[in-house]
Amino acid sequence: YAADTKGMLKSLWELPGQCARAWELGMAAQLPPAGQFKHILVTGLGGSAIGGDFLRVYAARRLGVPVVVNRDYVLPEFVGPHTLVFAVSYSGNTEETLSAYARAREKGAALVVLTTGGRLGEMARQDGVPVITVPGGIAPRSATGYLFLPTLAVLYRMGLLPDPGQEVHECVSLLQSMREELKPEVPRDSNPAKMLAAGFYNRIPVIWGSSGTTEVVAQRWKGQINENAKAPAYWNVFPELNHNELVGFEFPGELLRRLYVVILRDPHDHPRVQKRFAITREIMEGAVAGVVEIMARGSGALARLYSLVYIGDYASVYLAMLYGVDPGPVRVIDTLKARLA
Ligand code: F6R
Repeated sequence: YAADTKGMLKSLWELPGQCARAWELGMAAQLPPAGQFKHILVTGLGGSAIGGDFLRVYAARRLGVPVVVNRDYVLPEFVGPHTLVFAVSYSGNTEETLSAYARAREKGAALVVLTTGGRLGEMARQDGVPVITVPGGIAPRSATGYLFLPTLAVLYRMGLLPDPGQEVHECVSLLQSMREELKPEVPRDSNPAKMLAAGFYNRIPVIWGSSGTTEVVAQRWKGQINENAKAPAYWNVFPELNHNELVGFEFPGELLRRLYVVILRDPHDHPRVQKRFAITREIMEGAVAGVVEIMARGSGALARLYSLVYIGDYASVYLAMLYGVDPGPVRVIDTLKARLA
């Protein structure tokens, strides 16, 4: 694994510890002034935004107010003094996030910043906005624990969310036991992440989740395959995909033989959606290179979510290894940012 120059495997191995520390960071963080919040908005991009989607899905059944994720320079019209905004940028220098932060200030929203530092950290300190400073030195997409779990701790301490502490502990122990199965030393036959990578190899991964449970994990797998393996991947969501994407599987040519489909499952998926999985599978099996189902593990929502994220993260790194590419650097993103500067 010499090609792993940024230590993506090391970051994956350390994810359980990161989650435990991230929770503590949130529990010790300075809070914004209390208020009657009508909405929560997370603004960020890429690896710094996906934690916002984790929060959106996790909080949907627990928070009395909606969570909106914003990946843009501008903010939705509704943002104002009744909005709690988490501005998240691992580097602290992402221009869209700096712009959205400034707009949130103009609109009088309550703010919390999560970053390793950068311009965002400086601006927040000057403005007296609470900053949760997370450790640097890893790729933003490897820092989902740091960029997500502190938001739960803050919302809990502000009285907006029931105590997720127990679920965080369950999640940390589950990831600790899962890494023993997913680590590089475990051969393909008993390593689900390596088996997935072998299925994806030289094919186009199509990752399907389900609204309200695994949708964000499907998006995460796609992003991780793109960024780690430098390969295309696509994602979609049940039940919506039954109303459009499925029709594309009638295509008669050889094209479909290049697709490898993963259905991400959660015991809490709606029963009708579970029935849809089975029928959809029957309809398309044989047309594509493969269809596999991966079931979430654990009992709490956090453990179920992270168990699936963890398998996909490892699979994307093993896919990079199969393609002989370094999973760490994302040169094209760096080039694009430099050309915009
Ligand atoms: C790189 C990565 C990217 C960045 C994105 C925003 O690992 O995941 O998607 O997260 O370009 O940069 P930050 O996170 O520094 O605000």
